[in-house]
Amino acid sequence: MNLVIENISKSYVDQKRVETVALQDINLTVHNEEFVAIVGPSGCGKSTLLNIIAGLMSSTSGRIYFDDVKVNETPRISVVFQDTGLFPWRTVYDNIQFGMEHMNLSKAETTERVTHYLHMVGLAGFENAYPHQLSGGMKQRAGIARALAVKPDLLLMDEPLSALDAQTRQIMQEELLNIWNTERHRTVYVTHNINEAVYLADRVVVLSRRPGKIKSIISIDLPRQGRDDKQYQREVADYSKVIWDLIKEDALNALREG
Ligand SMILES: Nc1ncnc2c1ncn2[C@@H]1O[C@H](COP(=O)(O)OP(=O)(O)OP(=O)(O)O)[C@@H](O)[C@H]1O
Ligand SMILES: [Mg+2]
Repeated sequence: MNLVIENISKSYVDQKRVETVALQDINLTVHNEEFVAIVGPSGCGKSTLLNIIAGLMSSTSGRIYFDDVKVNETPRISVVFQDTGLFPWRTVYDNIQFGMEHMNLSKAETTERVTHYLHMVGLAGFENAYPHQLSGGMKQRAGIARALAVKPDLLLMDEPLSALDAQTRQIMQEELLNIWNTERHRTVYVTHNINEAVYLADRVVVLSRRPGKIKSIISIDLPRQGRDDKQYQREVADYSKVIWDLIKEDALNALREG
């Protein structure tokens, strides 16, 4: 099963009937077990694309589908945003359980899964805490556990780490990579952090701005684990430089134009 993004375009029209072409002719196939990062300057349409893939927003044209889907099978999609959207009135345990509530799982299986993911994201012992009792990094981990617990066919993430401080972010990147290497979810990950994209992804899609088009797709030909090893420093820096050179001009224009 592949996720197929076919000729997706999106225009926003404001109250004065001014049209912004946020996305134009986006074509991309995301394979099973693949981690695709989407980078690009502010306002290039990253979040728009993710929201359209998630089914939270309609496109102006084009379509998104999974090929080879069996009859009666509905692919499950999980989304993690920058703001985790945890329910403040639910405990960590109940937040993680939330997505599983309509899945007809037995109580034993539900408990087993919630416990498994609590441990995986390092929140064992905090199951009865409420979101306001957690640090930013812990909230984000709870949000990721909730997204993973439904065993999604597609995991969508929009800048999930960008609200965190630099150290927590670095640790979370490593944790995310470990989790991802265990579970290997098909993932589309939006970030404006180029290093993060090179560190995590199999392929990095670079979007240009106004209109948001695919400027380049770069395969990161490095082992999935251990990219922070000294031996890969040079390659990681080279990939980051190539991507930054593609984005730079657009990023400067984004700053000028606001
Ligand atoms: N609801 C909306 N109405 C009108 N224009 C919008 C709307 N949402 C987004 N846009 C415009 O569409 C373009 C793409 O926005 P989008 O939020 O997808 O960009 P982004 O790449 O996620 O940016 P950032 O890196 O700042 O999060 C921008 O020019 C933005 O101004
Ligand atoms: Mg965005």
